[in-house]
Parts: sequence; C-alpha cells; structure tokens
Amino acid sequence: MKMKVAVRIRPAVNPENRICISTDKSTVSIFNRENIAENITYEFPTLFDVNSLQKDVYTDLIQPEIKHILEGQNVSIFAYGGTGSGKTHTILGSPSDPGIISRLIQDLLDAFHCQMDHSYKLTLSYLELYNEKIRDLINDKNEDLAIRQDVHQNVFVPNLTEKEVESFQDFSKIFGATSEIRSSSKSKTLSHVNSSHSHGIILLKVIRSECNTSKRHISKVFLVDLASAEKYDSTGNEGTRCKEINKSLSAFIDVIAAINHGSRHIPFRNGKLTRLLQNSLSGSSHIVMIANVAPEEEHYHNTYCTLNFASEHKKFVENPTVNELATAYNIKLPKSKQKQDKSQKEKTKLITDSVLDKSKIDDLKCKLLNMKESLITQSSSKTKVSPKLQKPKVLHKTFKKDTETKFNATIKDCAASENKEKKHRAQVLQLLNSQSENDLLLLHTVGKRRAQLIIKWTQNHEPFQRIEDLLQIPELGQKYLTQFLYHNHLTDVNKENL
Ligand SMILES: Nc1ncnc2c1ncn2[C@@H]1O[C@H](COP(=O)(O)OP(=O)(O)O)[C@@H](O)[C@H]1O
Ligand SMILES: [Mg+2]
Repeated sequence: MKMKVAVRIRPAVNPENRICISTDKSTVSIFNRENIAENITYEFPTLFDVNSLQKDVYTDLIQPEIKHILEGQNVSIFAYGGTGSGKTHTILGSPSDPGIISRLIQDLLDAFHCQMDHSYKLTLSYLELYNEKIRDLINDKNEDLAIRQDVHQNVFVPNLTEKEVESFQDFSKIFGATSEIRSSSKSKTLSHVNSSHSHGIILLKVIRSECNTSKRHISKVFLVDLASAEKYDSTGNEGTRCKEINKSLSAFIDVIAAINHGSRHIPFRNGKLTRLLQNSLSGSSHIVMIANVAPEEEHYHNTYCTLNFASEHKKFVENPTVNELATAYNIKLPKSKQKQDKSQKEKTKLITDSVLDKSKIDDLKCKLLNMKESLITQSSSKTKVSPKLQKPKVLHKTFKKDTETKFNATIKDCAASENKEKKHRAQVLQLLNSQSENDLLLLHTVGKRRAQLIIKWTQNHEPFQRIEDLLQIPELGQKYLTQFLYHNHLTDVNKENL
C-alpha cells in the first residue's frame, strides 16, 4: 500500500482574524501553546499554502493516480480536518471552482478514449455515513444499508445505486441533482451530508474489459469527505489530547495507525467507514490523504491536531516499500528502526517529562533479575521482515533563541532518561512474554482476564517484539494500548502529547 499525505491551508475568511500559522516551501509552523517561546514546525513534502488553487491540488496529487486506476488498482482519497477547514471545498468544490471529483471524472472519461486494448465503463455511487448509518444519496429511501462481504472477501453494499457515467453531462445530472436535494433544508431525509459529523463518500467503479476476451477488472476509487475531526480531552473539553468523538473517524485513525505499526490485527470492523473501505486500505491500494487546516487562531486546536495526525501518518510516505514487500498483515519493523523513529520525538518530550516511576522499576528489576536473558535475544532474532526503510521526518519543535541554551543544558539528562526508558521497555516486554500470570499481574492495567489473553496469545504466536504488538490481540485495541503505555509510564510513540 502506498500513501501520500499533503497539507492544504485554506485562505483566511476574514483578514481581521488573528492568524496562527506560517509556511515556508515545505514547512508549516504554528506557535506552541504550552510554551509561547517555541514554534512547532512540521515538514511535508507536499504542502498547499493559502494561495494554492483547486487545479494545483488536483494536478499534483490526484492526476498521477489515474494510471493506477486504469491499471486496475484501488485508489482512495481522503479529506481530513476540522470543521470549516476546507474538506468539502477540496473534494467537491463549487460549480465556479470545481474540486477533485469533477476534474477526476473528466480526466477518466478522456483517458478511456485513448485506450486501445481495453474498453472502460465508469459508474458512480454516492453515499453518506452518519451516526454509523449508511444512506444512498442517489436513490434515497431513508434506509440504513448493510455492508456485506462476498466469498472473495470483497466488501460491498447490496442495493447501493450505481449510475453509469458516459459523459461529463451524465455526471453533472446525477451529481447536480444529488447536491440539490442535499442542500435543501426542507429535506428531512437527506440533510446530514452537510453536517460536520457525517462522512460523504463517493465511490467510482472503473470496469476494465479486455477487448479480445471476456476478462474484466474493477478498480474502486473512493473520495471521502471525512466527518470533521473535532477533538476533546478526557474531561470532554477541547484540550491537548486530540481524542476523536466520531466512531468511524476514530476507527479510521486506529486502522491507519495499526497498519503503520505493522500490526497483524487491523481493526477494520470497529467502524463502518473502515469496514466499507477494507479492500482499499490493504494490498496494492493507493491512498491520498489531504489534511486540511484553517489558518485562524480560533481554529488553533484543530490545526495542531490535524498537523500532528498528518505528520504521524506521513511515515507511510517515507516507507512505501514496506507494503510492497509484505502485506499489511505481516509487516514488522526491525527494532533498530523503531528506535530511530521515536528517538527524535522522545528527545524533546523527555526534557520536561519524567516518564519513569522509580519504585515500579525497582520492583520490576528484582523480578527480572531472575528471568533469563535469552528471551530478548530470542525475540530480536525472530524478526521476519527487515525492510530497508528510510528514516521518516518526524515532527520537531524549533526553539527560539532564548530557549536554545536551556535545551542544550537538558540534552544530557534527556539521553540518560532515554536509556532508562529503553531498559524499562525491555523489562515490560519480558513480562509480557513471560507466559506467567503472576508476572503479568505486576503490570498496571493488566488484570486476570487480560493476563490470560496475553498468555494465550504468546503461547500460540511468536513472542512480542515490542510492546505495541499488544495490538495484535484482537480484544485489546488502540485505546487499551494507549492506556497501558500511560499507566506503565512508557512514552506513547504514536501520539503527540507534547
Ligand atoms: N482553498 C480554499 N479557497 C477558498 N475558499 C475556501 C478554501 N477552502 C475552503 N474554503 C471556503 O471555506 C469555507 C469552509 O470550507 P468547507 O470546505 O465547507 O469546510 P469543511 O468541509 O472542512 O467543513 C467554505 O465557504 C469554503 O468555500
Ligand atoms: Mg464539509
């Protein structure tokens, strides 16, 4: 699987509003709310600033995908971001400033005419996912449509309307009518698409037939105007934790994270969006993620969370070969790579955070003295896949001049803490692999039931290579992993809680 991530910043609506974002070629900076003396700078290979046009986004990001679609591969395009950040503008646009969908339809129809060996057919479906209910927007009967899987593991929605598109006029007719109904506030049945809580999903099927045989191949193109990513902290208020409230969106984020970690279990079934897109989030599929942000200070929190999200999942961009070497289900990053990935993040985080609970570590140390060293050696020698990865560029903070000295002074402590954390991680990993209930119960958040789940898993599988492999146990999700790391005083390498 290959994923491109881009950031798009929409222009400010009102020039009098305070702006919290600045850009420079491929970097985006926002100030750090927790320390005004700092800026947080993110680097993205593809960045569309406030002056970018719809045409630029289409030409740079989407047009290169057409060849994959014609070759029969699945392509999914997602617009991610907070309310009012420009997701709908990017995917749909307006008649005077069309977005991705119109441009893509036009280019696909043009491309079909140029193909000699194959004939192509294009169909369009348009659905809405609101409150975990799927509705057909082309022929709405106010029903909640089901999701099914056929014997070939293809996920589909029975009875979903598929309209053939032979010309751009066909598309305008189908889509124009849909948007009219959609924007009618009187329509009780179709009003959710404009809600920030609904996912608007366009499905294009490109059916390729070989001219001399009856062979057919279908590629699916999903264009998803995701529900707005609104965040709240554990108290329910907007905060720094970047938690999701929309079930399908939060499942989507977890799925992307699980694929990113190389987990064997990908929790597609935790939300209908990921269930529906399952075939397009694995195998040889292509993903384009556009992270939309608004520049005004009032949107600071969503901007911060969206940039963190995009920067975290940019790892995909850096290592597309992983997914070519192995399917999403059996990738395991080598240990050395994991260390590389997290070291930059942790260096910064550890300056201010004491991640270790001393008394707990002392307990663990005593226990572990009696354990055999061989477990670790055994674990590290069993890494199956060793893809050669480039080092991803991760989020970094740039320190303004007056904080630089402070940074240098603490860097030594940071290195020492980093070593301790490594040791602590190894100790926790040994307990996880111990297959002993008593040992497992030493860990925070592990009760009898979870201890048994972990033991059962380790008896039937290889030892965990890293703590994040807990995600492979179907009953323990991303939420639990986060909780586990937090309560066992381990840095969450996947979340930016800086
Ligand atoms: N790149 C852009 N250029 C001009 N206007 C934009 C741009 N992005 C968004 N807008 C405008 O900003 C407003 C909010 O955008 P919208 O796409 O509805 O946000 P979202 O779907 O993320 O809630 C709309 O009026 C839209 O036309
Ligand atoms: Mg919208």
